[in-house]
Amino acid sequence: MRILGVILEAVELKKTFPIKGWLGKTKGAVSAVHDVSFSLKEQSTIGIVGESGCGKSTLARLIMRLIEPDQGKVLFRGKDILTLSGSELQSVRKKIQMVFQNPYSSINPKLTIIDNVAFSLWENGVSKQEARKKANYYLEAVGLPRSYATRYPSSLSGGQRQRVAIARALVLEPEIIIADEAVSALDKSVQAQVLNLLQELKTEFSLSLVFISHDLNVVEYISDEVMVMYLGKVVEKGIANQIYETPNHPYTRALLNSVPSMEVGVSTLNNSPITGELPSPMNPPSGCRFRTRCPHAIEQCANMYPPEIEIRTGQKVSCILYESSSREKVLL
Ligand SMILES: Nc1ncnc2c1ncn2[C@@H]1O[C@H](COP(=O)(O)OP(=O)(O)OP(=O)(O)O)[C@@H](O)[C@H]1O
Ligand SMILES: [Mg+2]
Repeated sequence: MRILGVILEAVELKKTFPIKGWLGKTKGAVSAVHDVSFSLKEQSTIGIVGESGCGKSTLARLIMRLIEPDQGKVLFRGKDILTLSGSELQSVRKKIQMVFQNPYSSINPKLTIIDNVAFSLWENGVSKQEARKKANYYLEAVGLPRSYATRYPSSLSGGQRQRVAIARALVLEPEIIIADEAVSALDKSVQAQVLNLLQELKTEFSLSLVFISHDLNVVEYISDEVMVMYLGKVVEKGIANQIYETPNHPYTRALLNSVPSMEVGVSTLNNSPITGELPSPMNPPSGCRFRTRCPHAIEQCANMYPPEIEIRTGQKVSCILYESSSREKVLL
């Protein structure tokens, strides 16, 4: 049996967007992604969670190289994507495909379903006949009846359109799929169907998934590992079960406490959800970016970025309170 390795690695990625004011003058900058590192194992799923604006989509765009980072590396099977160009970059790009939140805007309303799926193959020089044959195969793989192939997107439901978007991602035979809020716009029951489909496809086509969502229940369901982001920084990451059972970072705990559990009869009334306003990403707090909303913040939290501390195998937390000298202060 082949031992599965790391397929994708982000190393200290950083992205700041300049903010333009009147007459195009730069009036500040948003620190959207700051020193973010993670690795994705072959045929596994990493879930990326955090509140709106914490940098999830920016991270996805950096991985896809749709935007260039200010700093950092993106390694695909050990090769830095950021150093590639021409045909080498093209071939890596095919290996990483994306599925977006809104299937209404991400598929072309003027093309039939089959041509939506076949389109990127034509762009890559595949003949129309061969491309349609492949497109048919992937439409079947995502569970759309053959009769849908010649329809236009307007006659499909949101869930069906998302299946088309997934087929379109699959047709280039990627090794990684980045799903950015891919089920967020769907009804709960349709969400479950699409999540199950993604799980099945992952096994069938030996895929690795980067699954981005603000919905912690959904992420728990689908992920092997989880990374929690807050204002552009990673606060906690590790094996999904461990993080959900024993969240260590005060933000992860607050986030989990804010979520109604899917388990019947589990009350969230005694939990303290996250409080306070999200600070402006143009002017994030010094030191730990969560400290202004953290019930356990101490003076030192303002002075330095908290180092990443391995709490136990497979679980890392960026919180000064876990340094051995202050460990006893943490309310566990
Ligand atoms: N092109 C851009 N120019 C300026 N600021 C940007 C740009 N893209 C993103 N941002 C800012 O960067 C920060 C991170 O945005 P991002 O879209 O990555 O967050 P997100 O976690 O995906 O949020 P959501 O859950 O709402 O999708 C936000 O403050 C956002 O306003
Ligand atoms: Mg987003």
